[in-house]
Amino acid sequence: MRLAILADIHGNIYALQAVAGRLEQLQPDAVIVVGDLINAVPFSSQVVDFLRQTDWIILRGNHEFYYLDFVNGRAPDAWQDAERWGQLHWLVAHLRPDQGVYLAALPDDMTLYFPGTEPIRLAHGIPGQHRFGFTEDMPDDEIAAALQDVSQQVYVNAHTHVQFDRIVQARPSHPAGDPADFLNGPSPAPRTWRAVNPGSVGLPLNGDVRAQFAILESDPAVWGGWRVYHHRVAYDRRPALEGYITSGMLEAGGVMSELFYWELVTAEREIPYFFLWKRAHLPPDGLSFQEELDAYKAATGRDAYVRARDPRLTRTTIR
Ligand SMILES: [Fe+2]
Ligand SMILES: [Fe+2]
Repeated sequence: MRLAILADIHGNIYALQAVAGRLEQLQPDAVIVVGDLINAVPFSSQVVDFLRQTDWIILRGNHEFYYLDFVNGRAPDAWQDAERWGQLHWLVAHLRPDQGVYLAALPDDMTLYFPGTEPIRLAHGIPGQHRFGFTEDMPDDEIAAALQDVSQQVYVNAHTHVQFDRIVQARPSHPAGDPADFLNGPSPAPRTWRAVNPGSVGLPLNGDVRAQFAILESDPAVWGGWRVYHHRVAYDRRPALEGYITSGMLEAGGVMSELFYWELVTAEREIPYFFLWKRAHLPPDGLSFQEELDAYKAATGRDAYVRARDPRLTRTTIR
């Protein structure tokens, strides 16, 4: 049994088409998409239509909830601010109501029980919490604590846009009850999980601009029952970047759309970089969002760094 695991497509139809082309060659038995189908790159409507005509298994991520919370009136009032949330407003205006119904009915959490191997649990973050991903610098204890309620050995999530494959173990905790029982009895067995992130199809943030996904291959000889192979596919990003301008998203979305554009160019964490700098160097109030980005550019030269790597502006065609 071979599974293709995709995640974090983020409206990048060109990256998705490149991965789908590779899957034609690999012929997995099933394809699973672990959330964040939409937002960030201006082809969310095309991505939703593409996914709906496949037989793939689709889960929801936190970016689907940005959309659903906004259209259902559950979003905070602050989200009405066009300067900060124009990117989301643009997205809402460019998805059809039937696409919203489709997103509303997706599952958040799934366990797959394929024959002849161990079950796999999947969710965008951790069960019940969409915005929690695993990073390489995260200690085992923190990951194990997040997986306490996951009874399966193999856990697949997404959200960080970074490929990840790690075996983590929880230290046995002191059992409830009389301490004397614990001292005299057997120690509780440590709990172990294999945590896997396939990386991001449409907006990787691990410094590699290629579209990324994973293949999981069942193998009873391997602990947890699955082998994990990470894949990366080169594609031409220029039409995706061009779309920011031609679709009107860059103009409507302002600062956030520009930062997403930067992330598509560099595959680095441009949004956290900006917010960390802003917190360290600017007063909390006083400047507009656009003025804050302008101050960041003037102080760090980050816009020039991005421009030098932009395949629309350089000779590079495929990186
Ligand atoms: Fe994401
Ligand atoms: Fe996410």
